[in-house]
Amino acid sequence: MSVAVEWHDMSRVLISPSILSADPAQVVEGVRMAEEAGADLLHIDVMDGHFVPNLSFGPELVRSIRSHTHLGLEIHLMVDNPAGIIPLFAEAGADIIAFHRETSPHCRRLLEEVRRLGCLSGVAYTPAQSLQDLHLIRDVADEVVIMGVNPGFSGGEFIPGTGDRVRHAAEVIGEREVRIAVDGGVDLQNAATLRKCGASLLVSGSCFFAADDPAAAVRTLRGS
Ligand code: DX5
Ligand code: ZN
Repeated sequence: MSVAVEWHDMSRVLISPSILSADPAQVVEGVRMAEEAGADLLHIDVMDGHFVPNLSFGPELVRSIRSHTHLGLEIHLMVDNPAGIIPLFAEAGADIIAFHRETSPHCRRLLEEVRRLGCLSGVAYTPAQSLQDLHLIRDVADEVVIMGVNPGFSGGEFIPGTGDRVRHAAEVIGEREVRIAVDGGVDLQNAATLRKCGASLLVSGSCFFAADDPAAAVRTLRGS
């Protein structure tokens, strides 16, 4: 797994550019940009046109990206039935697989299944999804993704209460080795606040890919 070393160093904030914001006809170019800028991971959004009103990438793209980069691949499944496709992404070279809490009544079982397939397990929460059962799944999750936008598109409007939700998640997680990620609407202005609230992984789409100096953007997002 490409992420093992950085992932376990919880003092390091990881930066994960979202390839959805790259030019879709130049995906490899976007991957190269993330590598050269010093990013830690690559965030790949998978949408099914049902759970969210958009379509995006599939396992074959993940397989191809895997062959082009050493970066850890973080797969964000925005689909109604993640259980059916998780094995395809694991086999294609995913390092982390996150699915949405509301799509999976048997959330613990699915998180365990992701781990059994050799990946780090993640659970994502849309802005209106309660965090009230997080304490029931925190021991089988490696990542908790707090969405900062309504999912489905890059460049969405950042939802103000996100920092409070990150703080809440951080309280529930405590000292456990579970990364709290923020996905959507992260930018150079709000990154420091989100880190202070307890985020240890920041996904960045439009902010990263529109930056004049992507390496400087990664440093600012990471805060070092
Ligand atoms: C939103 C996606 C995000 C998105 C982030 O549905 O899950 O990963 O690409 O893009 P920005 O950073 O532009 O909000
Ligand atoms: Zn995402």
